[in-house]
Amino acid sequence: MVTIRSVSVFILVLLAVSSLALVANGEDKTIKVKKVKGKKVCTQGWECVWWSEYCCNQTISDYFQVYQFEQLFAKRNTPIAHAVGFWDYQSFITAAALFEPLGFGTTGGKLMGQKEMAAFLGHVASKTSCGYGVATGGPLAWGLCYNREMSPMQSYCDETWKYKYPCSPGAEYYGRGALPIYWNFNYGAAGEALKPIS
Ligand SMILES: *[C@@H]1O[C@H](CO)[C@@H](O)[C@H](O)[C@H]1NC(C)=O
Repeated sequence: MVTIRSVSVFILVLLAVSSLALVANGEDKTIKVKKVKGKKVCTQGWECVWWSEYCCNQTISDYFQVYQFEQLFAKRNTPIAHAVGFWDYQSFITAAALFEPLGFGTTGGKLMGQKEMAAFLGHVASKTSCGYGVATGGPLAWGLCYNREMSPMQSYCDETWKYKYPCSPGAEYYGRGALPIYWNFNYGAAGEALKPIS
């Protein structure tokens, strides 16, 4: 049950965002600063909501913008893609915002943030590409073509985990997500990790 709940939570985080998108565009991101035990900590509106040293730095939307997302994942909504309409910039930023106060994309300066985004999204693109070698635009243009594994060759239920993360009757633990996770034990671990923020 844990696993099912956590997956739906994750999907909710990604989907519930179209409403927040309006907020993300218009809302104010002024930096608030204070000192805690001599250390400077900040918040930055919706994108960095918990007091943290990382929130004093540029946030992801400061240096990674919608046009760059569109260029990177240019083919994801073409008719032959497998998750048309599923992935968008605002969902990414809204999900990322939960981790920005912890340092995701906010560690170091702008250049380091850009490098971290390049590494993260490069990984995402390679895991979700349907470009293979010959597609127009090359294989790198086809990231975020999938949001799940389409034809699992096996059932990813490992019975040796039946006490800690038992498989739910009827559930399948094939790869899902932008950095797909597989197997009941990985779903279980991801569920544990997501619980505190859901
Ligand atoms: C914030 O950015 C500066 C560079 O602009 C960097 O030196 C500093 O380490 C960053 N703070 C954190 C907590 O990463």
